[in-house]
Amino acid sequence: MENIDPWGASQIKNYAAMREHFGIDEFNFNLENNRFSERSLIMGHRDFNLIQSAMEKKMKFYAMTGLMPSGEMHLGNKAVMEMMIYFQSRGAELHIAVADLESYATRDIDLISAKDIAVENFLLNYIAMGLKPCNFYFQSENSKVQKFANVISNEVNFSEMKSIYGFEDSKKMLEINSPIIQASDILSPQVYGEPAPTIVPIGADQDPHIRLTRDITQRLSMLRIQESRGTRISIGGRGDTHILEDIAEEVMRRHGITKIMRNRKYRILESPESPDSMISFSIDLAKAEREHNPYAAIPPSSAILRLETGIKGGKMSKSVPDSTISLNETPVEAGKKIMRALTGGRESIEEQRKLGGNPYSCPVYELYMYHLSRDSAHLKKVEEECLSGERLCGSCKKEASDLMGNMLTDLKEKREASRHLVKEFLEFGSSQ
Ligand code: TRP
Ligand code: SF4
Repeated sequence: MENIDPWGASQIKNYAAMREHFGIDEFNFNLENNRFSERSLIMGHRDFNLIQSAMEKKMKFYAMTGLMPSGEMHLGNKAVMEMMIYFQSRGAELHIAVADLESYATRDIDLISAKDIAVENFLLNYIAMGLKPCNFYFQSENSKVQKFANVISNEVNFSEMKSIYGFEDSKKMLEINSPIIQASDILSPQVYGEPAPTIVPIGADQDPHIRLTRDITQRLSMLRIQESRGTRISIGGRGDTHILEDIAEEVMRRHGITKIMRNRKYRILESPESPDSMISFSIDLAKAEREHNPYAAIPPSSAILRLETGIKGGKMSKSVPDSTISLNETPVEAGKKIMRALTGGRESIEEQRKLGGNPYSCPVYELYMYHLSRDSAHLKKVEEECLSGERLCGSCKKEASDLMGNMLTDLKEKREASRHLVKEFLEFGSSQ
């Protein structure tokens, strides 16, 4: 398995191999009323059980994402934002970073244009899609995020960045630093607020950032729960750590653990017993640690979406405009692209009638799955008709462009009706 390049344009071919190689778990949760979950478009997760139980028990949790203001908002970005809005409806506190420092470094967008792009192409669409006020901020203007990014950068060295991202020595410092700023985006809600589970819905190409952020969280924390049969906490950090042993012991007792052994030499606290709920235990442990360590946090969780295939193949990415549909496009433009899309169809109509098409390697079918089929009955119909040969690619694409046209027109109307709300979002962000 090669490295994944979050800034590149290549599609991920084998999700099972990716899970195996990078230690991602398969996503087997059933999220109510979430079509990405219902249609198995979430390829994996890290620690999603924390989020599931926060939602069930109505405990505090954060949802975090960022956008690169480097062009139009496309369908892949839409999917991630729908996940964010979903978590907002399930009680998450939302934080959205405009990664203007990242687009300055990697896409050569100046910070002034970035502002305009972020509002016109992204924020307006988010509001049109149903986003409610939340912490929407610009990396370049957020001194708290920058301050914590400096702290984080002390935990990571260049050879590590090279091995995760394949950076060459000639990379510019801000490019090298942008994953560090992103880690700060993700951890800042906890560091400047209180420790709580954090869900970061991402496209699969962004997984390296989450891996890095989770590692950093571990390095910054002094009480770490280790994998073991009962409960085992290792105590790290400089200076006198006895006080941390006391803190950990107190939290263990509070969670019903009575038999506790302290191993001074290896700086470990151990018990054959387990807490009643591992999740509340780990949250309480991070909160208690916070009294002594301002950076105590819970490693972020992720829900990882499969990357939508571009309509001409490859990854759907802003860098390949012909393969991508953006939300600010006109129905006519989008329709033309769809009519020229790759399909899973056969060479000839006769063959298609006889053998059926292949919806599972068809970018048009993906459009139905991710965006166009409102209900699963419709999606099933497309799938079955395609497989049986009843459906032909020409009319199938026509139906897709009509549905896409309706969706884009509807969004455009809602964008126009949302303009007066922009100010509220920007003020909310800068008052944080
Ligand atoms: N790197 C992300 C992108 O390319 C943007 C981003 C910045 C982000 N900060 C984030 C994503 C925090 C998730 C969480 O789009
Ligand atoms: Fe794809 Fe539709 Fe053709 Fe089937 S009929 S291969 S879903 S375009």
